[in-house]
Amino acid sequence: MEDLKFVKVAETSEIPMGKMKKVKLEEKEILIANVDGNYYAIENRCTHAGGDLSKGALDGRIVTCPRHGSRFDVTTGKAVSGPKILFLRFKTKDAPSFEVKVEGKDLMLKR
Ligand code: FES
Repeated sequence: MEDLKFVKVAETSEIPMGKMKKVKLEEKEILIANVDGNYYAIENRCTHAGGDLSKGALDGRIVTCPRHGSRFDVTTGKAVSGPKILFLRFKTKDAPSFEVKVEGKDLMLKR
């Protein structure tokens, strides 16, 4: 039986190990990252000022925002460090995270 709570948003082949991709789920932009063959999803818009995390850099499980360098753990959404502006480091909120399910070659997100 089809699980109506999960929707297909991408295929596993689109996100190789160490890469990430921005997908849309209804009105939300979500970032899916492949860390060592496991997929994780957090909100794509940076909690500081809306930077596009999919344009940032992924290093292991840490994505760095391209705008002011906030860093988030993609496996949990936790903000590991905040934005750096004029030599000052601020705090930012954790990013919401989402459940990812792999079904065959499909990546599904919970609505
Ligand atoms: S918008 Fe991401 S660090 Fe400022």
